[in-house]
Formats: sequence, C-alpha cells, structure tokens
Amino acid sequence: MSNIVYVGGQKGGTTKTTTSHLICLGAILRKQPAAYVLTYPHRRIKAEGRPYGALDGRDGNGLAQIITASHSMGNGWLIVDGGGNWPAFDQAMAEQAHLTILPFRASEEDLEAVARDMETMPHALAAFGMVHEQACPGAAQRLIDGLSKAFPGLVIDTPVWFVNSTAELLGASLENPSTAVRNAARHTFGILTTAFELRAELADEATSAAHAG
Ligand SMILES: Nc1ncnc2c1ncn2[C@@H]1O[C@H](COP(=O)(O)OP(=O)(O)OP(=O)(O)O)[C@@H](O)[C@H]1O
Ligand SMILES: [Mg+2]
Repeated sequence: MSNIVYVGGQKGGTTKTTTSHLICLGAILRKQPAAYVLTYPHRRIKAEGRPYGALDGRDGNGLAQIITASHSMGNGWLIVDGGGNWPAFDQAMAEQAHLTILPFRASEEDLEAVARDMETMPHALAAFGMVHEQACPGAAQRLIDGLSKAFPGLVIDTPVWFVNSTAELLGASLENPSTAVRNAARHTFGILTTAFELRAELADEATSAAHAG
C-alpha cells in the first residue's frame, strides 16, 4: 500500500505545490517510489522529464481511481497537492489520506488560516514552509510558538529550506535537478517522514486511550 499524503489548506500561496514536488523528488533520491497528483482544475502539469510520476487528479473520478490504485501499489508515496480555498475538498482528502500536512508561512494571515484548518481537520499536522531567506527571527518564531501552544504536538516547526530557483522544480524538465534543489528535496522528505512517524504515534496513542477508556 502506498502512503497517501495530502498537502492542503485553505489559504493560497502557502507553498503547497513547491513542497509537494520537493517531497516527491526527495523520495526518489531516497530510492522510494513517489508520484505527484495534481487536483487543482486550472493548473497543468507535464509528466515527461520528471524522475517521479505526475498524475492528473483534476477530475473527481480520475482522482478516486488514482487513490484506489495506490492501495494495491507497492510501498511508495502518493503526494496529493491541494488547491487552496477549497474547504470541502480539504475535508474529503484529509479523511482519505494517511497524513495531511498544512504548510504555512510565518505571517499572521497564514497562521490564522492554518489554525482554522486545524480545527476542521483534527488529524492534520501543520508544517512550516519557508519562503524568505530569513533565519526565522523573533517575530516569526513567536507566531509559530503560539500555534504550537494552541495545537500541542501538531506543529512541525522544522522549516522547509528556501530554494533559490523554485521555477526549476515546476519547469518543463527536472531531469537534472541542481544540487541545491536536491538537497532541499532530501531535507523536505526528511521532514515528511518525521511527520509520518509522528502521525502514526498519535494514532497509536489514540487507540490505546480508547482501549483504556
Ligand atoms: N522552499 C521555497 N523556497 C523559495 N520559494 C518558495 C519555496 N516554496 C514556495 N516558494 C514560492 O512561494 C510561492 C508560492 O508557492 P506555491 O505555488 O508552492 O504555493 P501554493 O500553496 O501551491 O499556492 P496556490 O495556493 O496558488 O496553489 C511561489 O512563488 C514559490 O516559488
Ligand atoms: Mg499550488
């Protein structure tokens, strides 16, 4: 069975797509199969020239087939990129995925949006996506600490690395990713696997609590 990861959240521009591609590339570099799934109706993706699969899940039936097929696929990663401003889809995907991550950047607006999403998707984990080459200074850190306090254990505060050329990731061909992109991809995949383990631990705890109670 493939691990289905949903990268979602209502707010636009939180780094969902970039993070999804970094995870896929990182998985491949770690010799684990991975495929990216496009869901947003108005975007396009070219599958050729990528070291990982790129699947078209823009149509509901197509997406359902991809997810069903992944259940019988070997162990790998299916990374489903959400679209933003699409709460019903977020809900549905969060229920189907083994792990939902909600990227956010260090701004008041992103923090408010991710907090709302976490209320409606209680099993989701928030992940800090870095888009500025800032060393996460005091103000940003305070926002993240506030979120961690509100949702203890559900905020991954290891930031995804800043990538100088994200255009390369989403470009026509990714046959020869630069060292910087490869390093960021490995790092992002590391964050993902940690999040996946954390999710599994939380599920185990919930099961034992239910049995004890
Ligand atoms: N790790 C990163 N380093 C540098 N820039 C980044 C990084 N991640 C994302 N960005 C930039 O941030 C912007 C938003 O990223 P992206 O398109 O991945 O967000 P999104 O959440 O998928 O947006 P949308 O809601 O429109 O689908 C883009 O310009 C992208 O290049
Ligand atoms: Mg996107």
